[in-house]
Amino acid sequence: MSSTYILGISAFYHDSAACLLRDGEIVAAAQEERFTRKKADASFPANAIDYCLKTAGIQASQLDYVGFYDKPLLKFERILETYLGVVPKGFRSFLMAGPLWVKEKLHMEKQLRKGLGYQGPILYSEHHESHAASAFFPSPFEEAAILTMDGVGEWATTAIGVGRGNDIQLTRELRWPDSLGLLYSAFTYFTGFKVNSGEYKVMGLAPYGEPKYVDVILDKLIDLREDGSFTMNQKYFNYLSGLTMTNGQFQHLFDGPAREPEAKLTQREMDLARSVQVVTEEIMMRMAKTAHRETGSENLVLAGGVALNCVGNGKLLREGPFKRIWIQPAAGDAGGALGVAQLIWHRHLKQPRTVQPGKDSMRGAYLGPEYAPDEIETYLKSIGASYRRMERAELLREVANSIASERVIGWLNGRMEFGPRSLGARSILGDPRSAAMQKQMNLKIKFRESFRPFAPSVLRDRVNDYFDMDCDSPYMLLVAPVKENRRIPMTDSEQQLWGIDKLNVPRSDIPAITHVDYSARVQTVSRDVNPDYYDLIKEFETQTGCAVLVNTSFNVRGEPIVCTPEDAYRCFMRTHIDTLVLGPYVLRKEDQPEWQETGDWRKEFQLD
Ligand SMILES: [Fe+2]
Repeated sequence: MSSTYILGISAFYHDSAACLLRDGEIVAAAQEERFTRKKADASFPANAIDYCLKTAGIQASQLDYVGFYDKPLLKFERILETYLGVVPKGFRSFLMAGPLWVKEKLHMEKQLRKGLGYQGPILYSEHHESHAASAFFPSPFEEAAILTMDGVGEWATTAIGVGRGNDIQLTRELRWPDSLGLLYSAFTYFTGFKVNSGEYKVMGLAPYGEPKYVDVILDKLIDLREDGSFTMNQKYFNYLSGLTMTNGQFQHLFDGPAREPEAKLTQREMDLARSVQVVTEEIMMRMAKTAHRETGSENLVLAGGVALNCVGNGKLLREGPFKRIWIQPAAGDAGGALGVAQLIWHRHLKQPRTVQPGKDSMRGAYLGPEYAPDEIETYLKSIGASYRRMERAELLREVANSIASERVIGWLNGRMEFGPRSLGARSILGDPRSAAMQKQMNLKIKFRESFRPFAPSVLRDRVNDYFDMDCDSPYMLLVAPVKENRRIPMTDSEQQLWGIDKLNVPRSDIPAITHVDYSARVQTVSRDVNPDYYDLIKEFETQTGCAVLVNTSFNVRGEPIVCTPEDAYRCFMRTHIDTLVLGPYVLRKEDQPEWQETGDWRKEFQLD
């Protein structure tokens, strides 16, 4: 019997992606931005689809189903009603968005067929159903409560439901314009960061601030109910009618106008960040309690952009009503491509779902392209690079030794990650024991603000020796406290330091990954999921006694994470990365020929 192939697509909003299932199993998944090198590329994911089909060795005509992750007409209806409700105030942004909607959304099928040359059925699922499916179906649970939270899809902004066996059911939703994602984005905008990507920075800034605006947010901005649902007071927001998130009234509540992007950060932004983070955690907690009450489950699965708030997730795990939590690594809209494909397989085709207890079916999120040694070598030869091919054990020893000598490593190994985090396939690695490492890596490699600490990768079997957690966190989506006995208390004079200067004070014996509040965004690494990365950390532990590495995404600020050996070499040569590892090949910066730059790349990524 021939296999059933299902292609899932998410596109035209942000972060386009494609995912391919063969008889229900995930064969490949990738975001379009990695191929086009355009961050959060929202265009039709032609390259990602092409990659998925090639990986399975099939043509588009061999696909049995194509699924799209939301319902464009429903979404258009929401846009239209919103604009009609605020005409003529909203007319300007309607003119901006309208033609795009007509062109891209209403002609979706035509585009899919034209783009794919595919004549079979195209099915649509609702946006939050796609998120919910991506959260439950690949999870390690037979049954679970489902919570999805984001900015907005068609109408829903939050959904609560339950997953059992091979189906999911959503039982409650919060609807536009009341949205936790948009509330967080409003503060992202107001603190001078970019909406849809700067939310992480707000979360990283929060530990420097005091929650002094929490009461104002709860009194004026939102009416929060016991069950976690809330109403946003549209008097202060501008996303219904304008092109910005907040309006002039908003600034009266928060001591002045929005911070200009790139302007110096002040204590006010830190306090704002802390306040919106506290409110977000409270809303997440109340929603989780509602989901728990309604399902009686001990398991919770999460997806939607808000599920990338790993500080909130960590708190849910420690203080919430659930025993176990699993979070879809591609929690944002890219993951919708996976969700809709799995909905077609399980719901539409009524195929059973088998769960291996304790094991999800995401394969560590290593679902993207990989490059064979001869492909890598052909490329390296073509540019005259200086490289050595090494045996595995020797390579791991040398790389671990380099890290211990404070060299920074660019590491490309195996299949690229699906989702926004680097998990040891496209990562920049460093020594977490080095206090100088964090500043050095932020400024000279990432070219970004230095207030964010890096994230640690730790051996799964050693996680509890370093952090107050003892569960899997394979996707770096849980924040946990650094163990008490590893902490270094601040002296009185250090306590007085202002905001970001505090970060330069070592807070633990792994200072490069310890935030000012002693927290860390943890990735646990298991040998059965990624043996090369596990063995590298193990070798580092053998040499140094430390079972942790600094792991940050392999890119510079504003650039998508590298995909190919060529992307990796380019990033290596443009930055202060000292050693590049491409599969079995090791390259030292000092041995490389002079790098010829084409175009103004710093301008391209807005680094100046
Ligand atoms: Fe979404």
